[in-house]
Amino acid sequence: MTCYQALGMARAKVLGVVMKILFVCLGNICRSPSAEGVFRGLAPDVDTDSAGTAGWHVGKPPYGPMQDAALARGYDFSDLRARQFSAVDFERFDLIIGMDAENIANIEVLRPVGNKTEVRLFTDYAPGSGKSEVPDPYYTRDFDGALDLIEACARGLKATL
Ligand code: 4NP
Repeated sequence: MTCYQALGMARAKVLGVVMKILFVCLGNICRSPSAEGVFRGLAPDVDTDSAGTAGWHVGKPPYGPMQDAALARGYDFSDLRARQFSAVDFERFDLIIGMDAENIANIEVLRPVGNKTEVRLFTDYAPGSGKSEVPDPYYTRDFDGALDLIEACARGLKATL
């Protein structure tokens, strides 16, 4: 359990304990680094990270076309590097956010026995979008559509803190 979880949101805020949020997708080169890049601009007081359930792109920067679409909106997350999600992330983060149902399933199989860390879909924070997942632009090639949804989800998440 993190310090933030032990205190609860209200007391953690009063005591200035930083919340830690992890964004997770499949490859960690399109959706989750974009989610991190957008959200950290909205909530610089939150400790953010991102990871992929697959390890194919470990050590690589975010996908070029994804970065280009994001840079056009003012988001620079070229500093991020892909890493693979692992069971210890349940102990390190207060909230783990997946981009689609497959991500959530792949996260949950690694949950340590007794761990209670909250795992949510990013689209839960944008109910008005009518979407139940962030479509993968690596396949759809709709980088702007993904960013529109990611921005809406990030605003909704920020509003819950
Ligand atoms: P992401 O997209 O999960 O949003 O990072 C993908 C990136 C790469 C691959 C799949 C999804 N890939 O198969 O390499």
